[in-house]
Amino acid sequence: MLSEKIILVSGVGGAIGNSIVKHLVPISNSVVSSSRSKVSTLYEYDAIPLNYTHIPLDLTEEKNIVKLFQMINQKFGRLDVFINTIGGSLYSHRIEDYPLEEFEEILKVNLISAFLLTKHAIRLMRDNIPLGGNIIHIISSSSRKISHNKAPYGIAKAGLAKLVNYVASEVGEYDIRVNGISPGYIFTPRHLQDIETETRKTGKSEHEIIRSKLKLQKIQRKMYPEDLLPLVELLSTTKVITGQNYNCTVGEVLNY
Ligand SMILES: NC(=O)c1ccc[n+]([C@@H]2O[C@H](COP(=O)([O-])OP(=O)(O)OC[C@H]3O[C@@H](n4cnc5c(N)ncnc54)[C@H](OP(=O)(O)O)[C@@H]3O)[C@@H](O)[C@H]2O)c1
Repeated sequence: MLSEKIILVSGVGGAIGNSIVKHLVPISNSVVSSSRSKVSTLYEYDAIPLNYTHIPLDLTEEKNIVKLFQMINQKFGRLDVFINTIGGSLYSHRIEDYPLEEFEEILKVNLISAFLLTKHAIRLMRDNIPLGGNIIHIISSSSRKISHNKAPYGIAKAGLAKLVNYVASEVGEYDIRVNGISPGYIFTPRHLQDIETETRKTGKSEHEIIRSKLKLQKIQRKMYPEDLLPLVELLSTTKVITGQNYNCTVGEVLNY
């Protein structure tokens, strides 16, 4: 039951992490969020719930990750659920034009930080006997499809999906479940800004641009961060599902 869980959400500066924290705080024992921003912008200063803590750290650095898990261990003595939302496509180029530094940064943000966070989450969770733990990575449909000029992002997310498989196969012995959620295009505030910019640059109407974003979906419905929450809840509490990467793409990507 979520009401008993100690939960960590990494990358709360983005809309998905933000909506996950807002959803989990009222129904969980305790929620810790961590991202680069000094304060969480989720709550007004005088309205921060007692069971919510924000720890400002750059989680692409291992020393900060070690510090984060030490702080959680000191405060709670255990961690039940870890949800990682850190990531982003950051740049767009064809491979022959991709600067190495940008390629490396994308790998660091989407894959290496996920590896380091998972490594240290396991070290804390493996002693959580007999409850075990649940780890969820927000991957992307780009782990399965080709996105124009976004090779490093797709490569990093495919690597993250593989990391989920490997880790799930290793940590079953500690009763730790590890799964991924792969969303398609989500209408976050950042993406709405991008659509506005595209409207200005191309002269196309907003309606036209939105239609093009939805055209490969089997259902022409816009997806919002909140649409991931039922799956987040399921994968935070499951005792039997592990090693899976769930499409959440309104039918754009189908398994076969
Ligand atoms: N939005 C979509 O349509 C969509 C679709 C599929 C998959 N996803 C994935 O879902 C996750 C959340 O996406 P989002 O759209 O909600 O948020 P976002 O705005 O893309 O940001 C996600 C998080 O990544 C962290 N981040 C980005 N660049 C970083 C850097 N250089 N160093 C350290 N941290 C960095 C941010 O950390 P801070 O909190 O520290 O700022 C932020 O919390 C990402 O993994 C994304 O790849 C998103």
